[in-house]
Amino acid sequence: MRFDSYGGIDVLNVVDVDRPAPGDGEALVRVKSAGINPGEASIREGFMHARWPATFPSGEGSDLAGVVEEVGPDVNSVSVGDEVIGWTDERASHAELVVVRVEHLIPKPAGVPWEAAGALFVAGTTAYAAVRAVGLAPGDTAVVSGAAGGVGSLTVQLARRAGATVIGLSSEANHQWLRDHGVIPVAYGDGVADRIRAVAGDGVDALIDTFGGGYVRLAVEELGVAPERIDTIIDWGAAREYGTKMEGTAAAATPEVLAELAAMIDRGELVVPIARVFGLEQVRDAYRELERRHTRGKIVLVP
Ligand SMILES: NC(=O)c1ccc[n+]([C@@H]2O[C@H](COP(=O)([O-])OP(=O)(O)OC[C@H]3O[C@@H](n4cnc5c(N)ncnc54)[C@H](OP(=O)(O)O)[C@@H]3O)[C@@H](O)[C@H]2O)c1
Repeated sequence: MRFDSYGGIDVLNVVDVDRPAPGDGEALVRVKSAGINPGEASIREGFMHARWPATFPSGEGSDLAGVVEEVGPDVNSVSVGDEVIGWTDERASHAELVVVRVEHLIPKPAGVPWEAAGALFVAGTTAYAAVRAVGLAPGDTAVVSGAAGGVGSLTVQLARRAGATVIGLSSEANHQWLRDHGVIPVAYGDGVADRIRAVAGDGVDALIDTFGGGYVRLAVEELGVAPERIDTIIDWGAAREYGTKMEGTAAAATPEVLAELAAMIDRGELVVPIARVFGLEQVRDAYRELERRHTRGKIVLVP
């Protein structure tokens, strides 16, 4: 997948390129599945140019799972044929073949479905970081905005595992999914603070914001949550204004965290809901679906 200039979905093209070759410390992975994330759309649109400029032609994608096809000269930690989960920082996973640093790969446990494996890195490590940032413990009540989205659907499950009572903000269509995962669903929109208070019992101890648009302000000013128990992965302005946490992928992007999440899935203790699976050639449709901002769980590309 390549794009030659910043722009809308139509700049995305699937093209034939030379087979990449792994160098020292690298493996070539044949991709079985690769998740897509809203941040990639922001980069493609040029919104992140000041912080993370693109060079053209640009590839796309961080998340991946696949089978090792070839290894670099000095590599012995992975072998040809290994099933792996991982990530690349080179915007390259939306492809049939991707070169990956071997320290960014972990073995894929047999019980982790390919689609979940390929969608795990960004959303999983972000959810992990957010739950850790607000320090959830048994007895806590936590609110999660965007509770059924890519990051939110994993965040609510990890927050439940930490022992918290979890209130998930979502549209009606996701309420049953939230109930099925032990989460108290609350509809967002006008009156949301009252609806949260009505189900929160002794009050709200922590809030994780995966959507933006005022939930940090709501937490501090209307729910009385302490800033150090609020994490937003998107609303940097509000985080600075109120002094909240803003921990996301970067705070937990390690093979150890990825392996811990994969092991939970393997044991049946964590589920990555897969909303849709698209072929690589349908990459534009995949992003059109994601940009509606109502995905339950993850959208993945399968080359
Ligand atoms: N800082 C980081 O490291 C980091 C990492 C990953 C993602 N992010 C950012 O985090 C955000 C979420 O990512 P994602 O992958 O989880 O996105 P996503 O899968 O597209 O999730 C979107 C969610 O937003 C919810 N939503 C839509 N309108 C809403 C509203 N008015 N109020 C509350 N919720 C609403 C949707 O819920 P319903 O379907 O129930 O309406 C859906 O669950 C993105 O902005 C992304 O760029 C940051």
